[in-house]
Amino acid sequence: MKPNASSPDPSDASVKIIVAVARNRVIGRNGRLPWNLPEDWNHFLESTRDGSLVLGRRCFEELGATGALEDGSRRPFIVSTTRSGPDCFPDFPSALEAAKSAGRTVWICGGERIYKESLPVAEELVLTLVDAEISGDTYFPEWSGEFPRLHSERVSRRGAIPLFFRVYRRNGKFSRSERV
Ligand SMILES: NC(=O)c1ccc[n+]([C@@H]2O[C@H](COP(=O)([O-])OP(=O)(O)OC[C@H]3O[C@@H](n4cnc5c(N)ncnc54)[C@H](OP(=O)(O)O)[C@@H]3O)[C@@H](O)[C@H]2O)c1
Repeated sequence: MKPNASSPDPSDASVKIIVAVARNRVIGRNGRLPWNLPEDWNHFLESTRDGSLVLGRRCFEELGATGALEDGSRRPFIVSTTRSGPDCFPDFPSALEAAKSAGRTVWICGGERIYKESLPVAEELVLTLVDAEISGDTYFPEWSGEFPRLHSERVSRRGAIPLFFRVYRRNGKFSRSERV
């Protein structure tokens, strides 16, 4: 049966990972971002506007503290075994399915375990390479096996650290354009 035009078809929601990662794959330190990069932060806000965000409990708390969830344009789907509520899910697959059902672009926003579980199922990896070695305690997994193909890149040298804004696409099988 074809989905009703007025109700979102979960298969239509594309799933994208968004992350900023140092050369040594560090993404966090002491529960915070290990850098202050306004250009990348704006890139995150612009990319995720009007999307569904799948994220771990710590990321949700950190993002909430920035005010990024206040205007309601980003809908969180929180993975947590300790929180409860309509936006909370006990594991990544159930959060992902609920987010897809909302019919908006799904943005996987971390942290470490969520990124690891999402790499095999995401269609696109929107990755800012922070071109420095940074000390930290939270890492993004090795991604070249799942995302070997660089689709686009924009370089910014405006700040103290060069930033490479990259988009990787999976080879073929999950591509929306190739799906019949
Ligand atoms: N550079 C970037 O782009 C970027 C992006 C995201 C995060 N970060 C950084 O990464 C750090 C936060 O990430 P994190 O990995 O420490 O924490 P996190 O994933 O945000 O939160 C961890 C908590 O989320 C829940 N959780 C996560 N995965 C789960 C799973 N598969 N099943 C069930 N529950 C799960 C658990 O909550 P309960 O304890 O409630 O069960 C767990 O204790 C911060 O430093 C942040 O700044 C950086």
